[in-house]
Amino acid sequence: MTGVRADDTEALLRIAVAAATEAGRLLASWRGDERPEVIQTKSSPTDVVTEMDRRSEALITSRIRAQRPEDAVLGEEGGQTAGGPGGAVGDGDSPGRVRWVVDPLDGTVNYLYGLHDWAVSIAAEVDGVVVAGVVEVPRSGETFTAVAGQGAWLHRGEARLALHCTAEVPLAQALVGTGFGYDPGRRQVQGEVIAALLPHVRDIRRGGSASVDLCSVAAGRLDAFFERGLNYWDFAAGGLIAREAGAVVGGLAGKTESTSMAMAAGPGLFQQLDTFLARLNPERDVQRSQGREA
Ligand code: IPD
Ligand code: CA
Ligand code: CA
Repeated sequence: MTGVRADDTEALLRIAVAAATEAGRLLASWRGDERPEVIQTKSSPTDVVTEMDRRSEALITSRIRAQRPEDAVLGEEGGQTAGGPGGAVGDGDSPGRVRWVVDPLDGTVNYLYGLHDWAVSIAAEVDGVVVAGVVEVPRSGETFTAVAGQGAWLHRGEARLALHCTAEVPLAQALVGTGFGYDPGRRQVQGEVIAALLPHVRDIRRGGSASVDLCSVAAGRLDAFFERGLNYWDFAAGGLIAREAGAVVGGLAGKTESTSMAMAAGPGLFQQLDTFLARLNPERDVQRSQGREA
C-alpha cells in the first residue's frame, strides 16, 4: 500500500495514539528519583538528549514500521528515514505518501528535573500536510488528538472532551506561553522580546514543552503561545491540535508557522500579538562569543 485516502486519516491517528501511549508508558516507567543519564548534548550544552529520548523514538519507529513499512519517519533523534519502496516523500508521482513526524520526548529538561510538562508528540503528514496528530502527556494522564477538519479532543481516562481555544481575549488580558531556544545568542533576543511584552499582557508562562503549550492553547489554558526557533517536530502535532480547536496558527506577518516563528491564539488575539511582536523584530539572533556575559 503506498497511498492514503483522506478517510484513512483516522487510521493514521489510531497508529499514532497507540505508539504515543506505549512510548509515554515507557518514559513514565522511569521513577524520577534518579536522573536518567545524559548521553549527548546537541545544539548547546543545555540541549540534552537522554537514553530515554532514544528508547522512546526507537519504540515509536518500530511500532510505525510494523504497520506501515513504506512510510517515511522524521524523528528528532534519528533524522529522516525513508520507508520501503514507493517513492520519496512529496514525490509527485506517488501522491498519498505518508511521513510521520516524531518528537519522542518533548520537554526533556522538565523530564530530567522531575517536572510534569513533558510529552510524546507524533504527527502524520500526507503529501506534506499534517492530517493527524497526538500529544500524549503521561504525568497528567491526558491525550490530545486531532484529525484535520474534524476538531481537537482531550482524552482523559474514558472521558473525551472537545477542545476550544479562548475567544475575544484582548492582549492586555492574555496569558501568553512561550519558550526559549538553547542558543545563548537567540535567548538574548528572546529575553528582550519578553521584557517588552510582559507589561502589556496578563502574564507570561514558560512551560518547557512546546507541544504541551500548543495543546494548552487548544484547551483554553493559555490564550496564546509563540516561540522562535522551534523544530518541526515540536509543533507538527500540537499545531494541528490548536488549529482544530479554533486557534489561528501561523508565523509572523502572514507567514506560515515555521522553525523561524510559530504562534497560536484565537483569531483577534493572534492579530494583536502578531502586530506587537513584529515591531520587535523577534526573528533575529545576536552573535555571542563563548563565555561573554552581556
Ligand atoms: C524543547 C521544548 C521547549 C522549547 C524548546 C524545544 P525538547 O524541546 O519544546 O519547550 O522551548 O525550544 O527544543 O528539546 O525538550 O524536545
Ligand atoms: Ca521538542
Ligand atoms: Ca525532544
